[in-house]
Amino acid sequence: MILGIETSCDDTSVALVDKTGAVLFHHIHSQDNLHESFGGVVPEVACRAHVETLPRLVQEALEKSSVSYADLSGIAVTQGPGLLGSLLTGISFAKGLASGYRLPIIGVDHIKAHLRASISSPETLHGKSVGLVISGGHTHLYRVSRWPNLVKIAQTVDDAAGEAFDKGAKLLGLPYPGGPSLQIEAQKNTLPILPLTKRAVRTEDPSDFSFSGLKTAFALLVRKLGVTDETRPQFAASLQEAIVSHVLNRLERVIEVESPDHLLLGGGVSANALLRKRVEELCAIRGVSLHLSSLSLARDNALMVARLGGELLSSGSFYPYPYYDLIPYTRDRSDHRFGKKNSGIPNKSSD
Ligand code: KG4
Ligand code: ZN
Repeated sequence: MILGIETSCDDTSVALVDKTGAVLFHHIHSQDNLHESFGGVVPEVACRAHVETLPRLVQEALEKSSVSYADLSGIAVTQGPGLLGSLLTGISFAKGLASGYRLPIIGVDHIKAHLRASISSPETLHGKSVGLVISGGHTHLYRVSRWPNLVKIAQTVDDAAGEAFDKGAKLLGLPYPGGPSLQIEAQKNTLPILPLTKRAVRTEDPSDFSFSGLKTAFALLVRKLGVTDETRPQFAASLQEAIVSHVLNRLERVIEVESPDHLLLGGGVSANALLRKRVEELCAIRGVSLHLSSLSLARDNALMVARLGGELLSSGSFYPYPYYDLIPYTRDRSDHRFGKKNSGIPNKSSD
């Protein structure tokens, strides 16, 4: 029985899974209402809210599932990457709880957990796999060598895709959180797609992603043409199209080079309907088996943490009582952005 805790950013989530993988409890407490008026996540507000919500949620998880602390095999907690204060809240709470009950702690990588949410079980992955984590903080492509060992083969050189969705939505005056609002607005569009400069997404390494130039190009277009109630859906659809096309361009290239049997897609932005449709089409054409996170598990959640945590515990990767020397990390541990080795993916075309 694993208790999973996720507090990497602004969602407080707790899950309880048993050894068969059955979900006894899972809840995601959104803080959207707290950050709405700021138009983005305020780190200090986020960690204070975790402090208030987390103990209550863990108590609720145990009571509702009639499980006692003595029944737990371990506590899985998101170790990073994420916001320092938010991560510290979850980790400190896990350490306190685990030391009281002499339980092992499993430090879970948030990015790997997002990919775990896209598969029912690691046993489904035969042959070669690649995984894309596309969220508010990351746009990373991995080669999955032997689950959960991942080798990063590409990443964004600047902003994450979710950041482009969120800032674009803000420019259009759409409600927070921006990604889902922009998708809804885009779905209303009946006008032609506005072209955003192709140069905006050119990266030095052709396998990498870039979204900051796209954000700037979009901001300039909004300033030049002005947004009205009639054209807002057109702007939303145009930005969505540009982001999704850029992601698809990179996915096409990686499928060509890696020839994977499986493609895993996770992270908040993987909930985007246009992206899901395009990736489904691409995988169908290329004969790649697609593993998509369900809409409810695309966003940050503790179920993915508990499931990956259980697998890590079984494989011997955990902190035993009382040696809890895990500390949070705020950036991707495999971040080679400075001095990044060439991924070997050739520049066949540019978008
Ligand atoms: O994975 P996630 O919940 O948190 C991070 O790890 O960052 O991802 C949140 C991101 C936000 O940028 C949000 O706007 C975006 O995912 N998002 C979407 C959609 N749903 C969430 N972006 C585009 N379309 C959506 N439907
Ligand atoms: Zn996330």
